[in-house]
Amino acid sequence: MTTSAVILAAGKGVRMRSHLPKVVHRVAGKAMVKHVSDAARTAGVDKVVIVVGHGRDSVEALFQPGEAEFAYQELQLGTGHALMQAMNKVQGDDTIIVLAGDTPLLQAATIKALLEHHRQNRAVATVLSTQVDNPYGYGRIVRNPDGSFRDIIEEKDAREEEKQIREINSGMYAMQVNEVTAALAGIGTDNQQGEYYVTEALTILMRQGHKVEILQVDAREDIYGINDRIQLAQAEKILRQRKNAALMESGVTIVDPSTTYIDLDVDVGRDTIIHPGSIIEGLTQIGAECQIGPGTHITSSVIGDRVVIEHSRIKEAQVGDDCTIGPYAYLRPGAVLHRNVKVGDFVEIKKSILGEGSKAPHLSYIGDALIGKGVNIGAGTITCNYDGKNKWETILEDGVFIGSNTNLVAPIRVGANSMTGAGSTITRDIPADTLAVERAQQKNLRKK
Ligand code: UD1
Ligand code: CA
Repeated sequence: MTTSAVILAAGKGVRMRSHLPKVVHRVAGKAMVKHVSDAARTAGVDKVVIVVGHGRDSVEALFQPGEAEFAYQELQLGTGHALMQAMNKVQGDDTIIVLAGDTPLLQAATIKALLEHHRQNRAVATVLSTQVDNPYGYGRIVRNPDGSFRDIIEEKDAREEEKQIREINSGMYAMQVNEVTAALAGIGTDNQQGEYYVTEALTILMRQGHKVEILQVDAREDIYGINDRIQLAQAEKILRQRKNAALMESGVTIVDPSTTYIDLDVDVGRDTIIHPGSIIEGLTQIGAECQIGPGTHITSSVIGDRVVIEHSRIKEAQVGDDCTIGPYAYLRPGAVLHRNVKVGDFVEIKKSILGEGSKAPHLSYIGDALIGKGVNIGAGTITCNYDGKNKWETILEDGVFIGSNTNLVAPIRVGANSMTGAGSTITRDIPADTLAVERAQQKNLRKK
C-alpha cells in the first residue's frame, strides 16, 4: 500500500503583494510549503508531489534532490486542474493525500487521522472538514439528511441557505488513485469562477455510488490557509507558541515565551534556561544546562552543555561545553570555541579556532586565527588579517599571553608560552618562550 501526498501550490497568492509565490514565504523560519511537506513526511507518506506554477523555480529550490517531485501547472485553472497535473506521478499508488501549500500549521497527527478514517471506512474519497464561526470564503459541506456526503459548494456558488452552513471544506482530502483519476476526467468549469474544482470529483464519485466520507475534526489551526501578511504573522505566532510549548514540555525553561523566538528545527537540551529577548534560528543545536540570553540571537550554530551566552550574536559558529560568551560578543561564521573558552564583551571572532581554556575577555577582533590551549588575549588585541587584497592567518600556540592592545600583523606565528608587551605591533614571528616588545622608548619631558 503506497500513499503519496500531493500538495497544490501553483497559485500566485495575489493578496501577499509579493514578487515571490505565496507558499515560499516563511513562517517560523521555514517556507509554508515546506511545513506542509514535512508534516506529510512525518505522517508517513511514501512520496511528496508538489504542483508548482507561479514562481516554480523558487518553490523547487526549497527542496533537496529526491525530497519531492514536481508537477507543473502552467495556467491556474482551478484546484481540480491542479490535481490532474499530478496524477501521472502517482499512478500505481493506492491512496493520495491532497493538501494545499499555504497551510503551514498543518500537523502530522491531522493527516494521520484523515488517512486512518479513510482506510477504516474503505472510502474512495474522504474530505477533512471543520466547524468555524465565520465560514465566509470557504467551500461549505452539504450533507444528506442522514449525515452522509452530498456536495461541496463554494462561497461564490452558494445560495443564501447554503451560506449559513458553518461546516467548511479544509481543502484536504484522502483519495483512491484509480477512482479519482477517472472522476477528474469528468469535471467541468460550469461554476461562478469558471474553474475546475477538485471538489466536483467528490460529487461525481458519490453519484457513481462510491463511498465518500467526511471526517470532521476540531483542528481549525491545522487547516488555516494563509492569504495575506496579516495571516502570515498570525500563523507565525501560533507556530512559535507550539515550539516554545514543546521545548518547555521537554525540560527547557523559557522565562518569557512571548519574547522568545525559536525556529522549529532548533534543538535545546534539558535544564537550559532561555531568557527574554532571544532569537534562535535555523538548524541550531543547544546543549543541556545552558543559560541563553537575555538578548541573544543565535543562527545555525552548535552550542555545547553548560554554556552561558548573554546579549550576544552567534552565527554559524560552534561553541564547546562550559564556554562563557558576552555580554556583547559577536561570533561570526567559522568561529569554533573548544571547551571552557571565555569570549567577553565587544569581542568579534571570525573563522578562528580557540583551544580549550583560552580567553579573549575584552574588546578584540580575532579573524583567521588558530589559537591553542590556555591562550590569554589581552584587551584591545587585533589580528590584522587583511592587507587590502588577501586574508592571512594568525597562529598562537598553547599558553601564549598577548599583552593588551597588541596588533598581530598576519601572517604571524607566536610560539608556545610566549608573550607580547602591551601596545606592541607584532610583524615578525615570535619563537617559543619569548617576550616580544615592539614600541618606542618612553620619554618623560618636563612640562613648561
Ligand atoms: C479551496 C476549496 C474550498 C476550500 C478551501 C480551503 C476548491 C474549489 N475549493 O478554495 O472548498 O474551503 O480551498 O482553503 O477546491 N491551486 C493550484 N492551482 C490552481 C488553483 C489553486 O495549485 O489552479 C492551489 C493554490 O495555490 C492553493 C490551493 O490550491 O495552495 C487552494 O487554492 P485556492 O485558490 O486557495 O482555493 P480556494 O478558493 O481557497
Ligand atoms: Ca485558499
